[in-house]
Amino acid sequence: MPDDEGWWRTAVIYQVYVRSFADGNGDGVGDLAGVRARLGYLKSLGVDALWFNPWYRSPLADGGYDVQDYRDIDPRFGTLAEAEQLIAEALALGIRTIIDIVPNHISDRHEWFQGALAAGPGSAERERFWFHPGRGADGAGIPTNWVSSFQGETWTRTQNPDGTPGEWYLHLFTPEQPDLNWNHPDVRREHEDILRFWFDRGVAGVRIDSAALPVKDPALPDLPAGGAPTTGHPHIDRDELHDIYREWRAVADEYDGERVLVGEVWLDDAERFARYLRPGEMHTAFNFGFMTQPWSARAMRDSITRTLAEHAPVGAPATWVLSNHDVTRPATRYGRADSSFAFDRKRFGTPTDAARGLARARAAALLVAALPGSLYIYQGDELGLPEVEVPRDAIEDPMHFRSGGVDPGRDGCRVPLPWSGEATPYGFGGAPWMPQPDDWASLTVEAQESDAASTLHLYRSAIRLRRALPEFGDGAFTWLEADADVLAFRRGDGVLSITNLGSTAVPLPAHHRILLASGPLDDGLPPDTTAWLALLPTAAPAATTT
Ligand code: NOJ
Repeated sequence: MPDDEGWWRTAVIYQVYVRSFADGNGDGVGDLAGVRARLGYLKSLGVDALWFNPWYRSPLADGGYDVQDYRDIDPRFGTLAEAEQLIAEALALGIRTIIDIVPNHISDRHEWFQGALAAGPGSAERERFWFHPGRGADGAGIPTNWVSSFQGETWTRTQNPDGTPGEWYLHLFTPEQPDLNWNHPDVRREHEDILRFWFDRGVAGVRIDSAALPVKDPALPDLPAGGAPTTGHPHIDRDELHDIYREWRAVADEYDGERVLVGEVWLDDAERFARYLRPGEMHTAFNFGFMTQPWSARAMRDSITRTLAEHAPVGAPATWVLSNHDVTRPATRYGRADSSFAFDRKRFGTPTDAARGLARARAAALLVAALPGSLYIYQGDELGLPEVEVPRDAIEDPMHFRSGGVDPGRDGCRVPLPWSGEATPYGFGGAPWMPQPDDWASLTVEAQESDAASTLHLYRSAIRLRRALPEFGDGAFTWLEADADVLAFRRGDGVLSITNLGSTAVPLPAHHRILLASGPLDDGLPPDTTAWLALLPTAAPAATTT
């Protein structure tokens, strides 16, 4: 593992949703062979690391976040040997690999859970989970009133071997994802072993799924009416979690080359969020606060300021994330009347101004790429892909079904990527597992390669400049005076980023040279556009401007 100290503080990390990236064997499902064949593409994009969504053996009840065997690759994606090759080949190109670890739950097909079901009430095997008798004389009452992150109840009743109704088990997500009991030493030991298993295979870090959820109050108290206790939530952000991540950090620190922990921590409380990033705990955590903001200068400015302020005391770099496999694509979201993001507001048929959405997504891409910290790019955002309204009969996401069909779910951002050609499968491979729209010919990698104004070229240029200019590192960040609808800041002494979120063009500040712009610059900076300006003649050569 190369030892470039602090690599993760400013890294550009590309998120690979394997199932939809590229299909190497023609069966319509993306796989590791497909990723290996496209490493050149990722290298030319200029990214420092890849984060893979769960690639382990899984029934895919929740897209792989229901892990059946952590030490094997799902056969639809490939083999463990191929994963090892992929990790090594990427590293040879200077690209690190981050994998996904899902501590809160496992698949109901996992041997531990199957063993627990078979062993019955009171068994040692059940202690690794949250099995509990139901309320009432007949045990038919649900043990707690906790609400699932996917809506609905969080307990499912089992059947005894003789067919009578048995105990209940806890699942904060679907019934196919039973929650683990983190008070059990086996659970802790197993996860440390899993970390070592993958660190031994050269992975540079782990993304920790639902990182604020694994520990539960063993007393299993009900939530008060309204849902939010004033102190000590029974299953979110419990203090005991920090011991676990300190143990994980100690494991990571046994290895060379700075293996990192990246937390998926959804918390509104900035001080509680920053606790996960204290020295000796996680390296970074996703900044969902910024990701959920609407296209508004004020909202974004406040969020950036808050983000930098909350990270400073713990010495951790911020992360910048515009989307991921759970979230409405920015090219669509920013084209809607309500451009903020919240899971419970997703609806079919939301009116969208696609051209405006894309212009803003491009401007947002440059805005976040200019901020101090690490940067995450979800596959397909570099092509400006929109959210797809997947036909109801093709939807697989449990979020859709658990909402009673009201929420379209998350499949719309998980549609297989278009690589080339005029029609589906657009060079993806075999007939895609999830249908692609029939108007994606102009969005393929091939089409965008030959268009200097494409979103792909914009991302490449931005990443290249970010790497080339020392100002974009961990260096100084200073807000500049600007109109209420404009975000302008300086990085170091030499670079200025300016984004116009208003409805009329604004003049460009004095500059030495334009480095890059997210759209055409007429007489100034048009609405929905970001420009990067060199303030000094010493800045690197200009990249392609559009
Ligand atoms: C967060 C993941 O990003 C999401 O895709 C998954 O459904 C839940 N955690 C449960 O693992």
